[in-house]
Amino acid sequence: MSILIKNGHIFTAVDSYVADILVDDGKVRTIGIDLAADADKTIDATGKYVIPGGIDPHTHLDFPFGGTVSSDDFRTGTIAAAYGGTTSIVDSAVQQRGHALSQALEMWHQKAEGKAAIDYGFHMIILDLPESRLPELDDMVRQGVTSFKMFMAYLGAVMVDDTTIFQTMVSAADNGALICLHAEHGHMIDVLVKNALAEGHTGPEYHAITRPPATEAEATHRAIRMAEVAGAPVYFVHLSCDEALQEVQAARARQKYVYAETCPHYLTLDNSMYDQEGFEGAKYVLTPPLRDHRHQAKLWNGLRRNDLQVVSTDHCAFRFSDQKTMGKDDFSKIPNGGPGIENRLSLLYTHGVVPGLLDMNRLVEVFSTNSARLFGLFPRKGTIAVGSDADIVVFDPDEETVISAQTHHMNVDYNLYEGMKVKGVPQVVIANGEAIIEGGQYTGTPGSGRFLKRSTL
Ligand code: URP
Ligand code: ZN
Ligand code: ZN
Repeated sequence: MSILIKNGHIFTAVDSYVADILVDDGKVRTIGIDLAADADKTIDATGKYVIPGGIDPHTHLDFPFGGTVSSDDFRTGTIAAAYGGTTSIVDSAVQQRGHALSQALEMWHQKAEGKAAIDYGFHMIILDLPESRLPELDDMVRQGVTSFKMFMAYLGAVMVDDTTIFQTMVSAADNGALICLHAEHGHMIDVLVKNALAEGHTGPEYHAITRPPATEAEATHRAIRMAEVAGAPVYFVHLSCDEALQEVQAARARQKYVYAETCPHYLTLDNSMYDQEGFEGAKYVLTPPLRDHRHQAKLWNGLRRNDLQVVSTDHCAFRFSDQKTMGKDDFSKIPNGGPGIENRLSLLYTHGVVPGLLDMNRLVEVFSTNSARLFGLFPRKGTIAVGSDADIVVFDPDEETVISAQTHHMNVDYNLYEGMKVKGVPQVVIANGEAIIEGGQYTGTPGSGRFLKRSTL
């Protein structure tokens, strides 16, 4: 299958020019002016932007969490991702306590194989690590799982202690893996949650009240210092507030290998969403919680200054009708997570590029290129260059649409951004040289996504 994309405005992290692209056999073959090629398919991209397919390095598909399983699996979640211009994800496999990492990896391969519509890699979530298991970390790296993720919160569930974190960091300093951390002080939060419930505060708004910014900043600070001692790079997932950002900024000013992502919901929504009538706020029970409005400008500024390198979605969808309601009488039982895998590009364009907070090169960088660089996929992914995978989005910067659960493709009955008007829509999405989104339809084959064996940083 060959595709000729004519006359589009190509943006990479560093380029901006109008040209044609010939895609053949899954790769970018030629880039040039007035290419004359006899392709199977020609796309007229005049007036459109042509950018690398997005990489979302933080998703939870078919994820057992909070007493249930996230509602998007590898088929529905990756098709929704494709609609939104994302052509690769890095999801997370979860070790079971007392079990080998290889068992978890095998289980996640089974979840994804034959279902994924786009390419996928895995982080490995570490839950317990006796000394006898340390060689398994090196084995994961050899198998292309080059990042380990750990939770500093969710006490009694997936939280691990500092010894486990530090031990994993020491290994990573040696095997080159990237340590990814959910940074919140789990013990403080546990006390605040218990106190709130004891005082009869059971509503979803208490999810945010019991996880103040200082709990995120403290854990961020602690992890940075541990990483410094271990000599390992560290990447903070879903950074949500100015206090945590300041810790990252301070570490980067000391020239430490500290990286961080934020998510569209922290950039565009705030904690007033918890003030809604009845149980509606449960839709926004995701962790860390939505913050006060003042944090948004700080996060955008962090993206501009490269203190934040990536925008991921942390897509972890739970239905409102029968999953979020598990916490109807106790906010701590609401499964934590929200949907978003489909909306990242349009939100970044509308709220970042349109008001002039980001330019298109920076959008490409935080949407795709930096994830490829940090997670061992560059230059195969994350750019448009001769020889790179033909993962390409033809993006219409002028089309407007309104986000709604009525029209989205995620397998969940609400949308965090319901009713939000956005500008800029992916028109054609090409993954591995095949047009999988065209004319508003999914035209690909579930199962055509391949496992990405990633290299180290
Ligand atoms: O609320 C969230 N973010 N759920 C998914 C698990 C996590 O903490 O990333
Ligand atoms: Zn998390
Ligand atoms: Zn997550």
